[in-house]
Amino acid sequence: MTRRVVTGITTSGTPHLGNYAGAIRPAIAASRRAGVESFFFLADYHALINTADPAQVQRFTLEIAAVWLAAGLDPDKVWFYRQSDIPEVLELAWLLACVASKGLLNRAHAYKAAAERNFAAGADPDAGVSMGLFMYPVLMAADILLFKANSVPVGRDQVQHIEMARDMAERFNHRYGELLVLPKAAIDESVATVLGLDGRKMSKSYGNGIALFAPAAELRKRIFSIVTDSRAPGEPKEADGSALFRLYQAFATPEETAQMRNAFAAGIAWGEAKQALFERIEATVAPMRSRYQSLVADPVDIEKRLQRGAARARAIATPFLGELRAAAGLRRLS
Ligand code: TRP
Repeated sequence: MTRRVVTGITTSGTPHLGNYAGAIRPAIAASRRAGVESFFFLADYHALINTADPAQVQRFTLEIAAVWLAAGLDPDKVWFYRQSDIPEVLELAWLLACVASKGLLNRAHAYKAAAERNFAAGADPDAGVSMGLFMYPVLMAADILLFKANSVPVGRDQVQHIEMARDMAERFNHRYGELLVLPKAAIDESVATVLGLDGRKMSKSYGNGIALFAPAAELRKRIFSIVTDSRAPGEPKEADGSALFRLYQAFATPEETAQMRNAFAAGIAWGEAKQALFERIEATVAPMRSRYQSLVADPVDIEKRLQRGAARARAIATPFLGELRAAAGLRRLS
């Protein structure tokens, strides 16, 4: 039996090396396996929750689409589309909103965090909270349930959203019949966390990342700014726990990694290790970077691919939403 996998790609920010090694690369690899039907979409409705600048919403859609295509996503093998091209998503979101309890959404981490911040500041708990933010889990459930996903690969921070999607699906099915598939979160434990320049997890919010498609000179400069200890050349160095080593490992074969581990033990100079890291990453990134540059320079072509993807996705979504509407009583009188 084929398994459906749905992956939402937030269209904000510029992906860094950690996003590539931890999310993009494994997702693309998984989409190539036999017996899997993969749905990848650019979550631009979600982007509106945090982004007020229309030009930026559009620009990020172009850039992030180009990143995934440059990284090897094959739009003929998977379903690759822009969320806002699928109006069925919003219609399902309403059907789900009518079965979701408000109390469930009150418990969503993002909303709760905002309410708690407000409370701590002595403000109204809902200050600055849009209905978009509050409804985030409903929209996400619609993304997932519309395509009958069995599995949703996510980070730990998103597990609650998948559980909420299950909850909404169960309530819907209870009311209207077994129509929605209950999705499961898939957390890939084998994917290593890539550390940033300062040794903490590489994260947009810490500003410690290295942009995936930074020009080579910039990539080298950032790699050379990775914080290391004061051990001199010739002194043995600890590989595990070293941000530099972990980053190397994320881009190297097991053999290369073993060699680097030996070099650490033998006291490789930090400068030399950084040069090796730069060369290893550059070898992987350079061909993708040049594909990315030509893709981003041709928005008409990307738009064409997205339109094709939307047509394929709607071929599934439109009839299914029709069933859901009818089950809920939104149907012709005769
Ligand atoms: N919330 C996800 C994130 O922040 C993005 C997302 C939106 C998503 N809709 C989705 C992920 C549906 C998986 C399935 O990363």
